[in-house]
Amino acid sequence: MLVLKNLKSMRQWRSEQTSSVALVPTMGNLHEGHLSLVRKAQTLAEKVVVSIFVNPMQFGAGEDLDNYPRTLEQDCRLLSEVGAHAVFTPTVQEVYPRGLEQQTRVEVPDISDILCGASRPGHFTGVATIVCKLFNMAQPNIAVFGEKDFQQLQVIRLMASDLSLPVKVVGAAIQREPSGLAMSSRNGYLSDAQRHQASHIYQQLCWVKQQLRDATQVSSLCQQASQQLEQQGFNVDYFEVRNAHDLTPASSDASEWVILAAAKLGNTRLIDNLRVPNQ
Ligand code: PAJ
Repeated sequence: MLVLKNLKSMRQWRSEQTSSVALVPTMGNLHEGHLSLVRKAQTLAEKVVVSIFVNPMQFGAGEDLDNYPRTLEQDCRLLSEVGAHAVFTPTVQEVYPRGLEQQTRVEVPDISDILCGASRPGHFTGVATIVCKLFNMAQPNIAVFGEKDFQQLQVIRLMASDLSLPVKVVGAAIQREPSGLAMSSRNGYLSDAQRHQASHIYQQLCWVKQQLRDATQVSSLCQQASQQLEQQGFNVDYFEVRNAHDLTPASSDASEWVILAAAKLGNTRLIDNLRVPNQ
């Protein structure tokens, strides 16, 4: 596996490819969730490049940018075992040479301001900007993102469509621990007891999915699920049901809903979601 440490080597590698290329953008500290994206990408393109870049622009003040786990050596070993062709690891200096404040940004209106965007102002602008840049740097035919970050996936789909980017954006299923806890690099911040507790988010998502028959039940079910989580020691940011295709409030005519939750356990912010077909 090639390690491409700068844009020049990325561009060189890309220019040598004669068949399709898939990009899997990540911030590293890879786990089975990330590796499942690589495996999916391998079924969709001849060559797979994984980017590892802890993007400062998507972290707010007081968030975990400095503490974010950086495990490049281990990540490269996992990627080479799974058969990725290349890993792209640009530096902050090369990605943002004029500094974060001066950097041209990509803003995806409205959808960036709800749910996670409401409590993390500027987060999705940071995500859209780096993903747009990574698309331009790696010039993939396809890019794979996890449904774990459902809102992020929708923001990226809209950005690619609005800017006519020649990249097919593909979503991949959430990978979970046996307890149901969605895999995440941030689970590493949890103590053993918290990790056990954290699976209650998934349990509440499943409970709401089981109860949900029509859109009129949404607010009462979400309120009950939130209360349960609060009683179990979570600080709930949101627990909501939305129309899956555009994240507008759940309506009875939507073909699919998605139940989305964000909650803090101690200082660790966890997110998860579950899709529900509306029969
Ligand atoms: P990161 O959190 O490292 O996640 C990289 C990709 O892995 C994302 O598409 C995310 O949805 C996916 N992923 C994470 N946990 C997963 C799980 N349990 N199952 C399936 N997929 C999972 O998301 C980011 O990085 C950044 O915002 C990024 C898109 C790289 C832009 O900086």
